[in-house]
Amino acid sequence: MYVCLCHGITDTQIREAVNKHGDSSLADVKKRLGVADQCGKCSRMATNIIKAQVDVE
Ligand code: FES
Repeated sequence: MYVCLCHGITDTQIREAVNKHGDSSLADVKKRLGVADQCGKCSRMATNIIKAQVDVE
């Protein structure tokens, strides 16, 4: 599912950033993928996905 329409970033890509690269915050994922660096509408959903994934680990 697309989370960030500005950059075409999916929830799978965000989970991978956490699982494979050890990102643990929106700032980390933003730096890696560019998520939420344009309109910002995806920031809440992206944050929720990151938090849920960090909690799983
Ligand atoms: Fe992610 Fe616009 S939808 S920055």
